Amino acid sequence: MSAHVPVMASEMLDWLEPRPGGVYIDGTFGAGGYSRAILRAADCRVFAIDRDPSTRVFAERLEQEFPGRFVWILGNFADMCALAAMHGVHEVDGIVLDIGVSSMQFDQAERGFSFRQDGPLDMRMSQQGASAADIVNTASESELADIFYYYGEEKAARRIAHAIVAARALAPITRTQRLAAVIRGAIGGKPQKTDTATRSFQGLRIYVNREFEELENGLKAAESLLAPGGRLIVVSFHSLEDRMVKRFTHSRCGKLGETSRHRPDRPANAESPRFFLPRPEKRTAGDAELAANPRARSATMRMMIRGGAA
Ligand SMILES: C[S@@+](CC[C@H](N)C(=O)[O-])C[C@H]1O[C@@H](n2cnc3c(N)ncnc32)[C@H](O)[C@@H]1O
Repeated sequence: MSAHVPVMASEMLDWLEPRPGGVYIDGTFGAGGYSRAILRAADCRVFAIDRDPSTRVFAERLEQEFPGRFVWILGNFADMCALAAMHGVHEVDGIVLDIGVSSMQFDQAERGFSFRQDGPLDMRMSQQGASAADIVNTASESELADIFYYYGEEKAARRIAHAIVAARALAPITRTQRLAAVIRGAIGGKPQKTDTATRSFQGLRIYVNREFEELENGLKAAESLLAPGGRLIVVSFHSLEDRMVKRFTHSRCGKLGETSRHRPDRPANAESPRFFLPRPEKRTAGDAELAANPRARSATMRMMIRGGAA
């Protein structure tokens, strides 16, 4: 398995400023690059969540390296309040979310995220629930078109959906490369620099893993777990996700005219924390990282800080 190189780890530390005695949540543990960086930076504790059971192997290494300071939890970051509470944690000093798929997931043909190598059409991060093949072979033509259009921003969504329905009538589509060939055939034209199946695969992956819904719920959960002065840092790789994060942080910081007092997800009589944005409010990878890690090109990091620090 190729190692996952964490993106913008030094920028994350610079914004998080881990402190001795602090408690942090790494909501997207992956290969543990962020968790390790935080644990090395200060004598603090990290509770790391990942919905992919295959990340356990990386957690075992950190448990040995940082005894008593690191806990790995199998689960969804949208459930982080309940997951943290199970460990007696009700407030934290910082939360990091490095969302999307890891290069380990992407590079393993049998996980079915990529059409570069042939594999079963799976794409499930949690290895549970409906797979990409289930969706591709059972969704209606208009549902498929919506998935490619809304989650993949694919203009040829209707043509692709039509071609899939015709192809699956001959035989179920169960392999990544067959799906890619059907998509390329529907789009037609000369080969492009970026494979024409890329957007549709991305849309399908986002749909299979409910990535937008989980992000929305994860942001709300994170907001309610932050202690005064606590920081929420989110790295996204997709313009639609970054837009969601931006809308959320702006709304919590009063930038859209909506202050935290009006949030519907807190009881009306609860104390209303106020949040602040850093300046600049977003960061991208530096030149050296961009040259070394192509994944960093599409990364955008945003943060919001809960007010009322002691
Ligand atoms: C980009 S990788 C994170 C890499 C990590 N920062 C590192 O340093 O190795 C994203 C990880 O988040 C996990 N993930 C994505 N969405 C999740 C969710 N809603 N809940 C929990 N884990 C999630 C994926 O399974 C994947 O392992």
